[in-house]
Amino acid sequence: MAKTKFPRSCTSKKSGSLSGAARVPGDKSISHRSLIFGALAEGETLISGLLEGEDVMNTAEALQQMGVKVANGTDGLWRVYGVGAGNLSEPANVLDMGNSGTSTRLLMGLVAGHHFSATFTGDASLVKRPMRRVMTPLEEIGAQFLARTGDRLPLTVRGAESPAAISYSLPVPSAQVKSAIMLAGLNAMGRTTVIEKEPTRDHTENMLRHFGVPVIVEKLEEGGEAIHVDGVAMLKPCAVDVPGDPSSAAFPVVAAVICEGSEISLSNVLVNPRRAGLYQTLQEMGADIRFEHVRQESGENVATLIATGTNTLKGITVPAERAPSMIDEFPVLAIAAACAEGTTRMSGLAELRVKESDRLLMIAKGLEACGVKLEMGEDSLTIHGTGKPPRGGALIETALDHRIAMSFLVLGCVSDEPVAIDDAAPIRTSFPNFIDLMNDLGAQLSPDSSY
Ligand code: S3P
Repeated sequence: MAKTKFPRSCTSKKSGSLSGAARVPGDKSISHRSLIFGALAEGETLISGLLEGEDVMNTAEALQQMGVKVANGTDGLWRVYGVGAGNLSEPANVLDMGNSGTSTRLLMGLVAGHHFSATFTGDASLVKRPMRRVMTPLEEIGAQFLARTGDRLPLTVRGAESPAAISYSLPVPSAQVKSAIMLAGLNAMGRTTVIEKEPTRDHTENMLRHFGVPVIVEKLEEGGEAIHVDGVAMLKPCAVDVPGDPSSAAFPVVAAVICEGSEISLSNVLVNPRRAGLYQTLQEMGADIRFEHVRQESGENVATLIATGTNTLKGITVPAERAPSMIDEFPVLAIAAACAEGTTRMSGLAELRVKESDRLLMIAKGLEACGVKLEMGEDSLTIHGTGKPPRGGALIETALDHRIAMSFLVLGCVSDEPVAIDDAAPIRTSFPNFIDLMNDLGAQLSPDSSY
């Protein structure tokens, strides 16, 4: 049964400048993958910095149901006792993925490469999200599906008896679909190839290499790239340091940038260029954001991020081709755009319609309720900033979407009147200490006492 989420409101009021140093929780994408690849390696994988948010915990629980021991030590480290690709066992019960699309789609790929059945379900947000995008390639690999009308959860996957190595060109720019195919391909004999026209986050590729599996990336003449992996793959257990999540860092960074006089520093943040679109965009808008102590950890670049507040953000046009590198950051970019002087144009946003909520709609509705002028298109958003903080003074509907919730709490740090959200509970999926971390930096967020 899907877990019940209780509405718990939270209010954000004008804070003045933010200051101090903080560390955001582990990257959500890398956390999911560290558990999954740990399960596919034979032996003990040691994970530090794992995001202990609800989404990642749902991945851990599902892997346990498939016969993998996952343990949280008193030393803060997580240990995964992997069983090897092809050696997972059939879960005895339905896998409840809560709010997590990444857990669902990646684990559908994992199950597709194993000859057993698993049934996935989720919360009121997840059961509305499209699964056809992963079902089509996984059917080619040999898996079978029985899903609700519209290819929605709950759905059952029957994994392939003898998974086929396929070559598949992604019709949508989605790292989840790419990763689902590669996960199934690890247990297929021969070469699995995924072709992507637009680059999406490459954590699956980076982490597979970290686990000792060669991944070949071939640049294509017609643009884009082909990613090849050979199966059946042998993953070697290893140590993974999960860096801080740039998609979580985005909230305190935008809060600092829009609150004049702020200076905050966030250590150990992932700075993979395929995740950095928001930071580039904010810099183009005139924000003062610097990356210091850049270094490599577990196959990924990390840095300390310094953000300073300004009152001179300018509206810009964000190139559509940048969208995949900041796909989760449009809600909080919209908040910065609402505080900037002039018009910000964003396009290439079709994927925002199928996230935890219809994000394009929820951003537009929320900003309009706060007195911001904008135009929403099918896959675009134009925001007219006045160079002054918006009015605020609204109760925002968040539709079980953690990023909508956090974005509007950031807006409340500068708006003339407080901004409240109807449900803070989904924030626990990705950033469980968001309210405390923001308040420690000087924000004025007051949660309902039961949050
Ligand atoms: C993710 C990929 C993105 C992103 C999601 C995490 C991943 O989704 O929005 O939060 O970890 O692969 P899509 O692949 O659907 O773009």
